[in-house]
Amino acid sequence: MGKLIYSSIASLDGYIADQDGNFDWAAPDEAVHTFVNDLERQIGTYLYGRGMYDVMRYWETAPTGGDQPPVVRDYAQIWQAADKIVYSKTLPTVSSARTRIERDFDPEAVRQMKVTVGRDISVGGPVLAAQAIRAGLVDEFRLFVVPIVVGGGKPSLPNNVRVKLELLDERRFGSGVVHLHYRTRT
Ligand SMILES: NC(=O)c1ccc[n+]([C@@H]2O[C@H](COP(=O)([O-])OP(=O)(O)OC[C@H]3O[C@@H](n4cnc5c(N)ncnc54)[C@H](OP(=O)(O)O)[C@@H]3O)[C@@H](O)[C@H]2O)c1
Repeated sequence: MGKLIYSSIASLDGYIADQDGNFDWAAPDEAVHTFVNDLERQIGTYLYGRGMYDVMRYWETAPTGGDQPPVVRDYAQIWQAADKIVYSKTLPTVSSARTRIERDFDPEAVRQMKVTVGRDISVGGPVLAAQAIRAGLVDEFRLFVVPIVVGGGKPSLPNNVRVKLELLDERRFGSGVVHLHYRTRT
């Protein structure tokens, strides 16, 4: 049995990328990265929208030599060790190991996966995550709030959905980033 967790790093006004498609302002510093690594270590399977996969597949071949910071080498290992499912109607093939493509998002298949897996599942990419949230599949939200207002872009959370939440934990970092950990209330 595993939980489905939606994690995102977003501006204070709730965008994961700004109107120009930039998200360099969301790059975690070492302290946030270390914290993220420890969360990601619990993840057995990533469910990715194709847009998020296009960014994250960098980690399959990320430089991991001795000149790289330990936190970066650690993250690359964690990412490569996990299973990935990419949702896409257009992606012809994948460019990472332990990865398969699904052409449709089937909520029932994800519900079954939650029952059968031994470790938690992460959903990433706002378009895909919106469908999981609307289907009532997301058990926990881990939102990293970056101290910036960008005024528009790609929203982290969908419109026209209501989810009651219980705050499990919060953590502030020296950079001004705040991590908010919520559980879905039934
Ligand atoms: N803030 C941060 O730290 C951070 C980190 C990484 C990335 N980002 C940003 O986040 C963006 C990713 O967001 P995104 O808007 O591209 O959303 P996304 O959810 O990652 O990807 C959307 C794509 O997923 C596929 N998809 C979604 N639902 C599907 C379904 N039901 N069946 C089949 N395929 C489905 C479609 O791919 P097809 O079009 O191929 O069918 C769709 O175009 C990146 O491009 C980047 O800008 C931000």
